[in-house]
Amino acid sequence: MSKPRVAILISGRGSNMEGLIRAAQAQGYPAKIVLVLSNKEDAPGLDIARKLGVTAEAVSTKPFGKDREAHERMIDARLQAAGVEIVCLAGYMRLLTPYLVGRWAGRMLNIHPSLLPAYPGLDTHARALAAGEQKHGCTVHLVTEGMDEGPILAQAEVPILPGDTEAALAARVLAQEHILYPVALAALAEKIRLPEAAPRP
Ligand code: GAR
Repeated sequence: MSKPRVAILISGRGSNMEGLIRAAQAQGYPAKIVLVLSNKEDAPGLDIARKLGVTAEAVSTKPFGKDREAHERMIDARLQAAGVEIVCLAGYMRLLTPYLVGRWAGRMLNIHPSLLPAYPGLDTHARALAAGEQKHGCTVHLVTEGMDEGPILAQAEVPILPGDTEAALAARVLAQEHILYPVALAALAEKIRLPEAAPRP
């Protein structure tokens, strides 16, 4: 049975992208990573993807000015040309318009460094520390029009420890992100493959 073809959208470092690519290189993994796209030409993750054997390209926002949808049409054309069926946002730090969200409804995932619905947006670790939380974590969810909203597919918790710094907490959460995202993608890929399965007698 064919594995769903997956693209990853990044803006920077790409450590979640690397985790997904490495997980998908295992023989039994139910999805195939075929493309990495970045909105930033200098995203370090692009070279990491290429070294791991995955086609990686920047789709710069510059030619499109403020026309976010026109940029997304270019992204979508690349996704379609590569036969992509699932899109994973992995540190893609650009708000999407209803155009791209609508095109990929139910097939676009995002990972966010908090226990959503708590702390959408930026600086999640600093905000959780400042609020005196005892736990924090990360969430994989389906992408809908609201920022860091959409049905939650999986979460992982970490404790907040006495004397924690933002960097220490971020590292603890990131280690969980790298475990959680491949598991959540595998679950969606299996679900998408199901309709292809032979009908029950
Ligand atoms: C990750 O912590 C991811 O959860 C976060 O950006 C980081 C990207 O790191 N995403 C968001 O904040 C989205 N709202 P990475 O490039 O090393 O994967």
